[in-house]
Amino acid sequence: MAKSREVAEAEASSVPDGAPNVSYVFIVMGASGDLAKKKIYPCLWVLFRDGYLPTGTKFVGYARSNMTIPQLRERSKPFLKVKDGQEARLEEFFSMCSYVSGPYDKVEGFQKLDQALIKIEDESAPGKPANRVFYLALPPSVFMPVTENIKAACMSKRGYSRVIVEKPFGRDSESSAVLSRHLTSLFKEEEMYRIDHYLGKEMVQNLMVLRFANAMFQPVWNRNNINAVVITFKEPFGTKGRGGYFDEFGIIRDVMQNHLLQLLCLVAMEKPASISPEDIRDEKVKVLKCIRPLEMSDVVLGQYVGKPDGEGEERDGYLDDPTVPKGSVTPTFAAAVFHIKNERWDGVPFIMKCGKALNERKAEIRVQYRDIPGDIFHGQCRRNEFVIRVQPKEAVYMKVMAKKPGRDTGMVETELDLSYHLRFKDVSLPDAYERLIQDVFLGNQMNFVRSDELAEAWRVFTPLLHRIENDKIAPVQYQYGGRGPKEADELIARAGYSYTGTYSWKSATS
Ligand code: NDP
Ligand code: BG6
Repeated sequence: MAKSREVAEAEASSVPDGAPNVSYVFIVMGASGDLAKKKIYPCLWVLFRDGYLPTGTKFVGYARSNMTIPQLRERSKPFLKVKDGQEARLEEFFSMCSYVSGPYDKVEGFQKLDQALIKIEDESAPGKPANRVFYLALPPSVFMPVTENIKAACMSKRGYSRVIVEKPFGRDSESSAVLSRHLTSLFKEEEMYRIDHYLGKEMVQNLMVLRFANAMFQPVWNRNNINAVVITFKEPFGTKGRGGYFDEFGIIRDVMQNHLLQLLCLVAMEKPASISPEDIRDEKVKVLKCIRPLEMSDVVLGQYVGKPDGEGEERDGYLDDPTVPKGSVTPTFAAAVFHIKNERWDGVPFIMKCGKALNERKAEIRVQYRDIPGDIFHGQCRRNEFVIRVQPKEAVYMKVMAKKPGRDTGMVETELDLSYHLRFKDVSLPDAYERLIQDVFLGNQMNFVRSDELAEAWRVFTPLLHRIENDKIAPVQYQYGGRGPKEADELIARAGYSYTGTYSWKSATS
């Protein structure tokens, strides 16, 4: 990660005694929560440790519970990446942290927070510009009062204020529009950062380069050559006590409507006029506008049941989670087929699959090419596939046909393989949240969701979600630890993706 111009400038303009000329405070709203402990504090630590934040940045936690910094540190401990020799730096990081407790729905708490921020700013860079970044790691039920109170009491008096909003951004078109209107009445678009952490992942950021910096892809990236695109998200665990939250949203809202749809946009969009955030987001919106709303016949919904002979958690189905309401029909798996009605993609199915409690952890984009026209090899050719493995073990590989090596005259399915752990051995890939938090300091909104993108995304999903909920559509059952319902494979085959099961891969070790 490069240091930002803004960060570099702020550092270069430090006064001779080392005090910064600008103060920066990062405020974690919901500091006592799960996201804060698992992701936000660990990422802030890494950014601080490696010098990717402006010098002297301070971190303030805010939540209802009474907490001390040692307690906060203890909660994050299992998630902090600390190597030998970094203990002193870690001490330094926590010495930059403070905590204020207060309610989310009363302005008094925010006035107290503001006083604490002013004190920090006056001590770090008296009379100098003071910038504030607020991270809303909070349940959606308090988004509105918290943003209202930030606006009323906590905006910086002498610098910028930026607000990072976590998903879910509403639960359908209407509620999302209400939230958008609310946020727009408080903040300017350039102050708002709607985070979708998939946009911070290495291979997702790679998509633009793979597509637009390689002459060999552009001419074949269309309906004439591509048969289907499959975008998959799988997790090998269930809702793990998070069932209460999950049940209100379901897998479509949790993963498909945001993370997977963002991937679809980056795969399908036209080349932007430039790599500026607005040009890229304009192209994403154009793709979304060409997708018609999903219908029931486009989807298969599933819910996991326990594996009777499984071990531990595998034995429990979704409905066995005590935090899930009895008889819930919330889907934990969904497969859906999208059609993009534009000149490039008309007729090419874009298939999404996502689910919890499946056989593996995997997120990937699979572009399957068409059959070879005028086959001279007696049906031996298999369709080429270009696969971008987002996680784990980031890789880009192209499944190709080759002559069997040696005296054999037959053919073999093999691959051109760019495995990151082999090719880029010494590079460590930052966590998605690290990149995105750094982007907020840089004022770079490229990897954040714009309000019109959000509105289009909800337009595609809202009628389906309402139908599922109003008619209480029962999902099909699938077993914990499997590949999901067979009905999903049938849907995908009907849509045109062909799976032969003839490919086998052996990992290279060096
Ligand atoms: P496969 O042809 O084995 O699988 C293709 C896809 O078909 C997968 O997405 C699979 O995923 C899906 N599938 C499996 N069964 C069915 C079915 N009955 N109906 C419809 N779809 C089905 O090729 P892969 O590209 O997946 O390669 C096999 C393995 O080799 C993978 O683990 C891959 O990661 C690995 N590999 C790794 C490379 C690297 O790291 N550089 C390079 C090349 C290969 P799903 O179960 O999710 O539906
Ligand atoms: C979150 C979802 O947005 O993404 C979770 O709410 C999911 O349910 C998570 O587990 C997956 O993120 P990652 O980065 O682990 O793939």
